[in-house]
Amino acid sequence: MKQILMLEVSPRGKDSASRSVADTLAARLTDLYPSAKLIRRDLAAEHLSHLDGVTLRAISTQDPAEAKRLKEAAHQSDELTDELLESDLLVIATPMWNFGIPSALKAWIDLVVRPGKTFQYAGDGVVGLAKNKKAILVLASGGVFTEGPWRSWDFVEPYLRQILGFIGIVDVQTVRAEGMNIPPLAPSAVPNANKAVDELAL
Ligand SMILES: Cc1cc2nc3c(=O)[nH]c(=O)nc-3n(C[C@H](O)[C@H](O)[C@H](O)COP(=O)(O)O)c2cc1C
Repeated sequence: MKQILMLEVSPRGKDSASRSVADTLAARLTDLYPSAKLIRRDLAAEHLSHLDGVTLRAISTQDPAEAKRLKEAAHQSDELTDELLESDLLVIATPMWNFGIPSALKAWIDLVVRPGKTFQYAGDGVVGLAKNKKAILVLASGGVFTEGPWRSWDFVEPYLRQILGFIGIVDVQTVRAEGMNIPPLAPSAVPNANKAVDELAL
């Protein structure tokens, strides 16, 4: 394991369940892989840009001359994409917001899912280029989504698995702090997730 990329999305600092569990995971990873470079990217603080017309053109053109001319507009996307491609393990620690992911994480995804870099069209399909990587999702939610009536309302884990699979990352494990807004469940949500971190295959 040479490089681990950990994305943290919640803006709630010390109150954040996903960040707290990410800390536990970071400690375990550091123990297991002391020489690995651990990059912790705070997407809540970074305010990554949303794709505008020029950036979109810059990151999707297949014309080398145009790519050269628009190089500056592709800079942030290039940096984030290279960082992902150089990592062996991706950790995404995120809250559920409105049944989906926060837009800060969506902005990162829009900047790294790139034709010719992390996926390519092949025949009548698509091949992921972010090969030989694992991912761990650390998900926090107010409700419970692993069972019960809200299960089909979870657009976080299915979406993240879909988009990671699209770019070639299919070895994905999930840890959840769920029930954060349900008083009888809240106190044990983070401790349960921390226990699940101990059981991850790392
Ligand atoms: C803007 C916002 C939207 C939320 N939407 C949902 C939701 O759709 N479903 C849910 O179960 N919890 C929802 N929650 C609750 C959070 O998922 C929960 O507080 C979780 O602990 C947040 O993660 P964090 O502690 O890492 O910040 C929402 C919270 C906020 C602030």
